[in-house]
Amino acid sequence: HEEFTKVKNIATIELGRYEIETWYFSPFPPEYNDCGKLFFCEFCLNFMKRKEQLQRHMRKCDLKHPPGDEIYRNGTLSMFEIDGKKNKVYGQNLCYLAKLFLDHKTLYYDVDLFLFYVLCECDDRGCHMVGYFSKEKHSEESYNLACILTLPPYQRKGYGKFLIAFSYELSKKEGKVGTPERPLSDLGLLSYRGYWTRILLDILKKHKGNISIKELSDMTAIKAEDILATLQNLELIQYRKGQHVICADPKILDRHLKAAGRGGLEVDVSKLIWTPYK
Ligand code: COA
Ligand code: NA
Repeated sequence: HEEFTKVKNIATIELGRYEIETWYFSPFPPEYNDCGKLFFCEFCLNFMKRKEQLQRHMRKCDLKHPPGDEIYRNGTLSMFEIDGKKNKVYGQNLCYLAKLFLDHKTLYYDVDLFLFYVLCECDDRGCHMVGYFSKEKHSEESYNLACILTLPPYQRKGYGKFLIAFSYELSKKEGKVGTPERPLSDLGLLSYRGYWTRILLDILKKHKGNISIKELSDMTAIKAEDILATLQNLELIQYRKGQHVICADPKILDRHLKAAGRGGLEVDVSKLIWTPYK
């Protein structure tokens, strides 16, 4: 983990119509370390040291969206699935870019083992990356998400919760429960807590009669441990006569729902065309 101690090398990046200040060190190849600012092609994510190089590149680059398959489209919002093995350079570029905003995540150079889900806002100029998450093709620990990022200009608009919701929709299609890889950053944890709270409490509010953690897990693809931790954190679990009992007082649930923030952008599952990776 030598990355921890390294000083931030790239101060700003240009990406599409945004100039973005970076947050953390990212291990770009050494020849990029003395330039302070990097210029990214917003479509193929190749990066360059000088604006003129980018301008020259943009005249040649024929991508107008990420490589890979468009697996979701709803209005102007599209999601692309990129196989790190088929698009190695893109996967690596995405990791370099993401590390600028991720503190403690070890970067996976072995992008072969991952799928990347890149969320875009599309207009007549192309599909502009808003954020992404990565996912191991095969996870022993039932991780359904490795890294998640909303690019700073797009943060706090509900895209993070959309990406989280999307990762669980994929798990549902796989017939599996999932959980994000740990450790989570502060912002990651806040986003997950908000998402878990909203999903679980919405169900509890509507549900009549008893419901178990297992049933909640089956309905949501959220791992049982994460459900228990969320409900315990909200002090909604009581231990009575040797059994865990979930509190379902509508007033209390409403209070927590209010505190959990907005719902984020909705994933319309009917617009997801996807089969699990084999
Ligand atoms: N301050 C306080 N709360 C914040 C916050 C901030 N700056 N940013 C997000 N949150 C919390 C809020 O509860 C928010 O819900 P609300 O806006 O309804 O109150 C919730 O997290 C999610 O907000 P949302 O707009 O859906 O998320 P986002 O698009 O901003 O993305 C991350 C969230 C975590 C993906 C984003 O902050 C990010 O990319 N951070 C850098 C990378 C990172 O830390 N990734 C996680 C690694 S585990
Ligand atoms: Na993460």
